[in-house]
Amino acid sequence: MLNSVQLSNYIITHKERFLQELIDFLRIPSVSTDPQYREDVREAAEWLASHMKHIGIENVSIHPTRGHPIVIGEKIVDPALPTVLVYGHYDVQPPDPYDLWESPPFQPVIREEKIYARGAADDKGQLFIHLKAFEWMNSVRYFPCNIKFIFEGEEEIGSPHLPPFLTHHAERLSCDAVLISDTSLLSMEHPSVTIGLRGLSYFEVEFQGPTHDLHSGVYGGAVPNPANALARFIAGLHADNGRITIERLYDAVLPPEPEEFEVIEFMRRFDDRLKQETGVRELTGEKGYSAYEQTALRPSLDVNGMWSGYQGEGSKTIIPASAHAKFSIRLVPDQRTDEVNQLVKKHLEKHTPPGIKATLKILHGGDPYLLSVHSPEYRAAAAAIEDVFGKKPLPLRTGGSIPIVTHLRKTLDAQAVLLGFGLDSDAIHSPNEHFGIKNFLTGIETIPHFYRHYARFCCT
Ligand code: BES
Ligand code: MN
Ligand code: MN
Repeated sequence: MLNSVQLSNYIITHKERFLQELIDFLRIPSVSTDPQYREDVREAAEWLASHMKHIGIENVSIHPTRGHPIVIGEKIVDPALPTVLVYGHYDVQPPDPYDLWESPPFQPVIREEKIYARGAADDKGQLFIHLKAFEWMNSVRYFPCNIKFIFEGEEEIGSPHLPPFLTHHAERLSCDAVLISDTSLLSMEHPSVTIGLRGLSYFEVEFQGPTHDLHSGVYGGAVPNPANALARFIAGLHADNGRITIERLYDAVLPPEPEEFEVIEFMRRFDDRLKQETGVRELTGEKGYSAYEQTALRPSLDVNGMWSGYQGEGSKTIIPASAHAKFSIRLVPDQRTDEVNQLVKKHLEKHTPPGIKATLKILHGGDPYLLSVHSPEYRAAAAAIEDVFGKKPLPLRTGGSIPIVTHLRKTLDAQAVLLGFGLDSDAIHSPNEHFGIKNFLTGIETIPHFYRHYARFCCT
């Protein structure tokens, strides 16, 4: 029996220690993308492994890869019980721009009931929810399921080394379901369970013009300028009605599931919240679609960075030799990243202006994910939310991506449910990332209920 009074008492009693431990974890700058932090990422993996052992998780091991380490562990109580694999990532995004942080990104502080630090919500704080839920379960020997853990240090760079690891260790990681806390609730008043993730195709394009930077007076007008050309190419990626112009891109886009129409209608009222959160006056995009539809159910294309020519103080009159952009497309079911990469390649070939040499690099990507609301995984998550929040959650898709989720499904033949406790306003990937203490503690309280319900719904 799950004694929910005992559970909430445990959380209240140990709250300060939980927060202090999380602060210690957040202090380690585990930035995966920047080689400068390599040792810090390793230190975070070691901290994590040692904490897992400390709270009673068994067979904890650190697996080095060519990139950053993978940490696994488990608690097998009875092979006859269902097994849940918890996935999380202990790597974080770079902290810059540094100046915009009100307190340093790796010196966590608590202000107004929120903990501020890079990784607070994405994903160290959410990962830690699972360890603290485990700690309680182990303290009272309440294990309705076997639990396995896999924590990686490369999510923010596209998980390059995790798919082969999953294949190689499929037996060790075998499970009935995957449980992930790396997404947001709609709000504390409107709890949600994430049923969909968008996929991603990420590109870097280079336009090369003259062999070297040229005097723009001597040559300007006659010699193709790669920066002008790239601006034109990028502008051409969207039509006036907001649709992406890449041929056949929408062919594989599926309409919403019938169960989603009510939620889509409900979400229209959140268009305004998006404006407030982002500080823009108007929303753009595809005509006729709400913000929720655009960010969760439709593909989108964004330039993530572009550079060319002179960027220093003052002016310099040149035609730059090259121009560069990073851009990415968020994908929705049933688009496939491999197919979309081909479509983008063709589009670029067709639209490269004369005199320009274009090179396309495919950086990383992942396929979109969707979980049925009728699955035992969703039903268990929804029941757990209802137990703790006192109301049924909304089944929502998120616009974000966690590319490894489709690999987990394929390789381990298990559905993943995204039971996240962040908020979209947590400023993940931005300055002043934070995580509500209430969100953290409520997460800890919800997770044991998930196991309880999953044991009931699974395999029936
Ligand atoms: N946790 C996020 C994904 C996310 C963000 C889910 C917001 C729900 C709401 C994850 O860590 C992330 O940032 N993923 C990247 C993809 C990766 C390949 C860099 C993303 O979505 O940009
Ligand atoms: Mn994340
Ligand atoms: Mn992230």
